[in-house]
Amino acid sequence: MRIEGPGERIVVEVLPRRASTLVRDVRDGLGATPRWLPSKYFYDEAGSILFDRICETEEYYPTRAEAGLLARVAGEVMAQVRPTHLVELGSGPARKARILLSAAGRQGLRCTYVPFDVSESMLRQSARALLREFDWLHVHGLVGDYDFHLEKIPSGGRRLVAYLGGTIGNFTEEEGAIFLRRIAATLGEDDRLLLGTDLMKSAEVLHRAYNDAQGLTAAFNRNILRVINRELGANFAPERFAHVAFLREEPAQIEMHLRAEEAHEVEIPRLGMQISFAKGESIRTEISRKFTRKSVERLLAKAGLELEAWFASHEPSFALSVSRRARGSRRSRMSA
Ligand code: SAH
Ligand code: AVI
Repeated sequence: MRIEGPGERIVVEVLPRRASTLVRDVRDGLGATPRWLPSKYFYDEAGSILFDRICETEEYYPTRAEAGLLARVAGEVMAQVRPTHLVELGSGPARKARILLSAAGRQGLRCTYVPFDVSESMLRQSARALLREFDWLHVHGLVGDYDFHLEKIPSGGRRLVAYLGGTIGNFTEEEGAIFLRRIAATLGEDDRLLLGTDLMKSAEVLHRAYNDAQGLTAAFNRNILRVINRELGANFAPERFAHVAFLREEPAQIEMHLRAEEAHEVEIPRLGMQISFAKGESIRTEISRKFTRKSVERLLAKAGLELEAWFASHEPSFALSVSRRARGSRRSRMSA
C-alpha cells in the first residue's frame, strides 16, 4: 500500500498486476474464430482520456442521462442507505461520484470514497479533484482489476457499491451474472448495490453514440491495438483497421469491431503468434448491452440480488437500480 503523505486524506493501494492475464486473454481472443479482445484493455492512460472525452460529446448520451437521473435521485438513495463508504467499481473520471458525494454532504453524511479502477492515472487525478471539492472527504483508492481483486475492498461500515455508466453491459449475460454474484457475496445486510444500466432505444440514437463525428470512439477503439503493441511487442498498425460499431438486436447490444481494411500479417513476438488478417476480417473489441427493466431484474435475480428501487429517465432512457443481497442467501468471507 502506498500512502500519499503524512496527514493526507488519500490512500491508494496499487494491487499486484497479473501480467499473465493479458498474455492469456490476447492469445485466446486473437486465436479464436471470430477474433475478439476483452474491452478492459482499452483503458491505459490514453484510452482513459479518450473515454473521458467521449463522455463529453453530444452523441454519447449515457453519461448525461445517468448524471441527470442521479442528480434527481442521489438524495433519496443516500438518505436510504446512509453509507459510511461509497465504493465505486470502474470509477474512471468519477463524474457521478461527485453527485453522490454532494448529496451525502448536504445530509451531513461523511463517507469515505473507495474508487476502484485499472487506470491508476485516472483514479489519482479524479480522486484529487474530489478531495479539493469536499474538504471532509477521505479517499481509499484501489488500482487493480475487479475481475480478480474484489476481495480487497475494505469491509466494515455500511457500503454503497456503485457500478455505473452501464459498464455491466460490457459483460455478456453470463459473465455479468457471475460478476454481480461475486459482488453480492461481499454485501452485508445493510450494504447496497447501485447499478447503472443503459436501456434499449432507437437504433439511430445508439448508432450515433458509438460513431461520434469527431472520431473519438474510433480512436478509443484502435487504442486497444496500441496497448497490445506496447505490452506484448506486437506490430499492429491501428490505421489499417476501420472502426465499426453496430446494433445487434438479439442479444440487444452494440458491438464494436476493428475491421482489417486489407489483407495483412501481424506479429506478436512475446506470444510467438503470427496472425494473418483477411481483408474485411474483424476483431470484436466490445459489447455494450442495452437493457429493459425485465432484463435487469432477471440479471439481478441470477446474481442473488433483490431489487429495492428502480429509477429511470426517458429520452434518452437510462436506469439506476438499488438492490440488496437476496434474503436467505449467505454472505461469503470474501471481504478482507
Ligand atoms: N463509471 C465511469 C467510467 C466507465 S468507463 C462512468 O460511468 O463514466 C469503465 C471504467 O472501468 C474505466 O475507467 C476502466 O478503466 C474501468 N475498468 C474496466 N475494466 C475494469 C476491470 N476489470 N477492473 C477495474 N476497472 C476496470
Ligand atoms: C464503459 N462503457 C459502459 C462504455 C459503453 O458505452 O459501453 C464504453 C464505451 N465504448 C464506446 N464508447 C464508450
